[in-house]
Amino acid sequence: LNISIIGVPMDLGQNRRGVDMGPSAIRYAGVVERLQELGHSVDDVGDIAIGRRETSQNTKLRNLEEVVAANTILANRVHDIIGEGNFPIVLGGDHSIAIGTLAGLADRYDNLGVIWYDAHADLNTAETSPSGNIHGMPLAVSIGLGHEALVNIRDFAPKIKPENVVIIGARSVDPGERDLIREKGIKVFSMHEIDKLGMSEVMTQTIQYFKDRKVDGVHLSLDLDGLDPLYTPGVGTPVAGGITYRESHLAMEMLYASEMVTSAEFVEVNPILDEKNKTADVAVGLMGSLLGESLV
Ligand code: ARG
Ligand code: MN
Ligand code: MN
Ligand code: MN
Repeated sequence: LNISIIGVPMDLGQNRRGVDMGPSAIRYAGVVERLQELGHSVDDVGDIAIGRRETSQNTKLRNLEEVVAANTILANRVHDIIGEGNFPIVLGGDHSIAIGTLAGLADRYDNLGVIWYDAHADLNTAETSPSGNIHGMPLAVSIGLGHEALVNIRDFAPKIKPENVVIIGARSVDPGERDLIREKGIKVFSMHEIDKLGMSEVMTQTIQYFKDRKVDGVHLSLDLDGLDPLYTPGVGTPVAGGITYRESHLAMEMLYASEMVTSAEFVEVNPILDEKNKTADVAVGLMGSLLGESLV
């Protein structure tokens, strides 16, 4: 593959400092070399500029203007990367950047599928959010729900169909998000299903789900807090009882074998909260498995 790596040092979608250093931490963990070793051609196109934290407090949608501005730039860059025939890997940064990634991807496909690998559903709107943090809203925004400035980036909405989304690893879901999951019939493999079925069966069903819906691309949006904080402590909103390291590698390996994934992002790496860059190391390892690494 021709891979284009793009860094988004975004920390305005939540209130912990340090997640803006995520792209640097992932580069330091050797992402470019790791993917080159697999035979891919890798172009690191650098970072998107992020504005300053707002002083005026819109406590329902924190830093809205700057989040919209950066995501608009990101969307256009991702759109161009697909136009060049390259495979985009977006490095976060907090999860609000998925708004821009999906805005850039969506009109390059007729029927894009999305895997949301996360402890959270990120399906809040300003009305349901307990925090006002936009990193808890990107999936809602992408199905067309939320502030119009977020929903209409690149001037079309919605970006994706709720029935084309599969959430994997959920274990911290707010009441408004639960309502939305039911109302829209969004497919969720929570920790309950992962425990009960095992990751192998969960991924088999996920891949079949996308085949049944005849998707023509799948975007993997992987929040490192989807894993248990034992493995990825460097995240701003850790939740105990998560996906293991090996289950996560298996998931990535099965996605590679499915030949379905057409883009990916790895978000919420916060080196300030981390232990010796462990979380970025895990992220790079997972990218390796997603893109063809095997144990023997
Ligand atoms: N549900 C909580 C909120 O909306 C937490 C969201 C965490 N999202 C994330 N991408 N880590 O504030
Ligand atoms: Mn276009
Ligand atoms: Mn999360
Ligand atoms: Mn998330």
